Amino acid sequence: MIAGILLAGGKGERTNSKIPKQFLKLGDKYLFEYPLESFKRSNIFEIIVIVVPKDWIDFVRTKVSKDIHVIVGGNTRSESVRNALDFLEKFRPDFVVIHDASRPFLKLSLLKRIVKSVLEKGAVTAFLPCVDAMVKLEKFAYVNREKYVRIQTPQAFRFSIIKKSHEKKKNWRDDTQPIVENGFHVEFVKGDPFCFKITYEEDIKLAQIIASKWNTIFEEDALLSQDFLQ
Ligand code: CTP
Ligand code: MG
Repeated sequence: MIAGILLAGGKGERTNSKIPKQFLKLGDKYLFEYPLESFKRSNIFEIIVIVVPKDWIDFVRTKVSKDIHVIVGGNTRSESVRNALDFLEKFRPDFVVIHDASRPFLKLSLLKRIVKSVLEKGAVTAFLPCVDAMVKLEKFAYVNREKYVRIQTPQAFRFSIIKKSHEKKKNWRDDTQPIVENGFHVEFVKGDPFCFKITYEEDIKLAQIIASKWNTIFEEDALLSQDFLQ
C-alpha cells in the first residue's frame, strides 16, 4: 500500500503575501489543489494526507473530498512530515510519497518515475542538474557544477525506513537527509522543471502563466505516461 503526503503546513514567508502561498488562488483553483489533483489522478495512493497549519484546517476540509485526511502541521517542515508519518502509522503503508504543496505543477510521469523507482530501491528523490555556472561567493570561486544536483520533491521511501530515520528530531533540509545520515542509499530520479518550488513573489507570476496552460500540459503528459506502471 502506498500513501501520499502533501505538505502544505508552511507560512510562505518569502513570498511576502498576506496568506500562505499554498492557499493563493492560481487560475480557477487554490495552489494546493494542483498537486492534490495530480495525487488523485495518479490512482497510486490508497491513502492521501494533506498537512496544513492549524488555522487552515477548516478551510481545507471544505475544499477537499472526504477521503482526504487533513491533519495539522508543525513549526518546521520536518515536524510536519513527522506528524504525517505518526498519523499514517496505524494504516501500515508499505511506501510513502512526500511532496511539497508549494510545487503545484506535478506531472503524472514524474510521480510514476518516482513510484517505479521506490518499489525497487526503497528511497528516492527527484533531482535536476545545475545548468547555470556556479560560483562559491567566498573568493568568487567557480565550482564544477557537474558535481552538484538540485533536489526537488516528490521523494519516496519505504515507510519503515523513513519512520526510523525521522525518529531523531532534527530540522532536516528535506527527507533524504535523515535517510542518508542513517546509512541508507538514496536513488536519484530525473525531476521536472515544471515542478519548481514557488518561493518568491515573482514565482507566483510564473505560476499564474503556467496555470493558464496547465490542463493541456498535464493531459498531454498523462497520455504519454499512461502505460508506465503497467
Ligand atoms: N511546510 C510544512 N510545514 C512547515 C514548513 C513548511 O508543511 N512548518 C511545507 C510548505 O507548506 C511547503 C514545503 O514544506 O509546501 C516546502 O517549504 P517552503 O517552500 O520553504 O514553504 P514555506 O516554509 O511555507 O515558505 P518560507 O520558507 O518562505 O516561509
Ligand atoms: Mg520554508
